[in-house]
Amino acid sequence: MNTYTIRRAIPADAAALVELGRAVSSEPEAWLITEGDWRNVGEERRYLRAVRRSPHAAVFVVENGGGIVARLSLARDSHPASAHVADLGLMVAAGHRRRGIGRSLLEQAVAWARESGIEKLELHVFPHNEPAIKLYEQFGFEREGTRRNHFRRGGRLLDAVLMAYRVD
Ligand SMILES: CC(C)(COP(=O)(O)OP(=O)(O)OC[C@H]1O[C@@H](n2cnc3c(N)ncnc32)[C@H](O)[C@@H]1OP(=O)(O)O)[C@@H](O)C(=O)NCCC(=O)NCCS
Repeated sequence: MNTYTIRRAIPADAAALVELGRAVSSEPEAWLITEGDWRNVGEERRYLRAVRRSPHAAVFVVENGGGIVARLSLARDSHPASAHVADLGLMVAAGHRRRGIGRSLLEQAVAWARESGIEKLELHVFPHNEPAIKLYEQFGFEREGTRRNHFRRGGRLLDAVLMAYRVD
């Protein structure tokens, strides 16, 4: 992780983030809910602008000399009764995995949660995504259950494991 830096995303990152999202969501292992059809650059830029203005969401990127290699997205629940909960999404470019980037981004997520008054981080992960489940469990996330037929991907309905981390 020494050669990488983490920073907040800016609207000018939109093209690089679309490229990353399209690459990871097109991998044949189907790691992500999205299947290749990532939002376009204009939509991504608008989303990043909105996130920059909001205290309830954040996008962080990891970069090295060559560009952006990973992304973390966080968003607080919109319902007042669960405003202490935020959802997270994570991806690392295929050529940069197993170097501690995922773990560092989870540490960043916890730091943001503390600053933002978030007490619980949650995420959905496909049951076949063993690398991600291992990372989350090793970090301290716990399984809260399985959501049956929760996501439509490639014309099929897939289960998702709901995992959560208590922020102290
Ligand atoms: C899951 C993902 C984010 C992990 O990122 P990463 O930067 O490779 O993770 P790290 O290097 O920080 O790994 C931390 C620990 O997680 C576990 N882990 C990560 N990848 C693993 C793998 N392929 N197999 C087994 N354990 C794995 C290991 O315990 C690892 O520690 P170690 O390398 O010291 O053994 C990355 O593989 C990825 O982006 N996958 C595609 C997108 C995705 O699945 N996103 C999550 C959707 S819920």
